[in-house]
Amino acid sequence: MRAHRTPTCSTWAAGRDAWLPRALQAHDAATAVDVGISDAGFDRTHAEALRCGVADRLEPVRHDVTTYRPTRRADVVLGVGAAYAFGALLPALAAAREHLAADGVLVLGDCFREREPSP
Ligand SMILES: C[S@@+](CC[C@H](N)C(=O)[O-])C[C@H]1O[C@@H](n2cnc3c(N)ncnc32)[C@H](O)[C@@H]1O
Repeated sequence: MRAHRTPTCSTWAAGRDAWLPRALQAHDAATAVDVGISDAGFDRTHAEALRCGVADRLEPVRHDVTTYRPTRRADVVLGVGAAYAFGALLPALAAAREHLAADGVLVLGDCFREREPSP
């Protein structure tokens, strides 16, 4: 994350992943919002944030990520396995522009299948 100001991170539905708590652990001035709609996802992220000692810098925001408008644009947006909420990859990339600071970075992880699932 950038060092010239207090870095901010926004996550689309952190859920089970440990990216957000680990990012906060690695950047001890950074703050983050986790935008999601899943209580179980928030619970898991909070538990991991507590384990990493960063829960005080993590704000859970219960909101549909597709209509969420941040009060402050983020230096980093993490979107792992949540691009489908926007319907497709290109709308997700377009939405990221609304969430990112001018020199911000999007880290996008998307899902794909190597083969059709068996019945
Ligand atoms: C496949 S999970 C990925 C969770 C996490 N990033 C991970 O890798 O484990 C997708 C998540 O997106 C959330 N989600 C789906 N649609 C959403 C929406 N419109 N707004 C916010 N979160 C949404 C679901 O609740 C779920 O937690």
